[in-house]
Amino acid sequence: MAEPRPRVWVAQPLFDDIVARLHAHFDVVQVPAVVEHDAAAVADALREADGALVTLNERVGEAEIAGAPRLRAVANLGVGYNNLDVAALHARGIVATNTPDVLTETTADFGFALMMAAARRVTEAERHLRAGRWQGWNFKGLLGADLHGSTLGILGMGRIGQGIARRAAGFDMRVLYHNRSRLPADVERACNARYVDFDALFAQADHLVLVLPYSAASHHIVDAAALARMQPTATLTNIARGGIVDEAALADALAHGRLASAALDVFEGEPAVDPRLLALDNVVLTPHIASGSLATRRAMVALAVDNLIAALGAGPDAGRPPTPIAPAGRDAKRPGTA
Ligand code: GLV
Repeated sequence: MAEPRPRVWVAQPLFDDIVARLHAHFDVVQVPAVVEHDAAAVADALREADGALVTLNERVGEAEIAGAPRLRAVANLGVGYNNLDVAALHARGIVATNTPDVLTETTADFGFALMMAAARRVTEAERHLRAGRWQGWNFKGLLGADLHGSTLGILGMGRIGQGIARRAAGFDMRVLYHNRSRLPADVERACNARYVDFDALFAQADHLVLVLPYSAASHHIVDAAALARMQPTATLTNIARGGIVDEAALADALAHGRLASAALDVFEGEPAVDPRLLALDNVVLTPHIASGSLATRRAMVALAVDNLIAALGAGPDAGRPPTPIAPAGRDAKRPGTA
């Protein structure tokens, strides 16, 4: 009798023409609609699965892994993978993969767009106009802050942070960064970026962008004390993970004029957004779309599909998925970040 084909769970609707490549190798269970899967639903789906293609909406933790005896590979759609318990996956010999590189430039574009929107009050101005409050050209109305000639601070200088730094050259910005490890001199030169310590970054940035991975170490690293170091004229942009920022402290700083404005693409309790942030005019809010260009989202799915096929021992790269997640402490290839 022929060996049964491996079973694969695809947790969200993706691009059918790309996902179709999985059908050549596996029996595929594809979730047809966008769903917030709770732990029980993930456990249920993984119980009989050999592989899974998941998004940030699916948390694959210790319990789900323990209940999935056949699981051999989890391909995550995203460069960040805080939704996976990578240590528990690796302890079981399960391959975990993510989608770096293909989203770097698109995400850096969006970080820049959000930073500009916060500095120049773009969404606030649009709400003003749409609400019929525009009574004629107002010379002193809705004045913002310049990007050109200002100081950009980048917390987390991985691929996306470096992409933002490269864009800043066109705006004649001075670029400061802080990272777990300092970058080699040639990379600093290419990004025209200067390493400073955490406190100096917060104190000196006119526009601060967060692009670091989320972990226990970065949880609420932007807290009331860090925010208090920032200039009241500064902006803060977060395209990393919501849990990096203490949102209550941020709402407080924005409400009391201790920070000019913020732009947030990520939230601690996604898809819920703190009502205090929703009520503020000086914060730009977007629903976690930084990598969301059509071309990039397609490239992410293609890479995740390649990863899953290879990790399950099929296809031309059998056993060699293109972008595996390294065991903790072994990510020497690229220091640190998205
Ligand atoms: C999105 O947030 C990602 O990590 O790719």
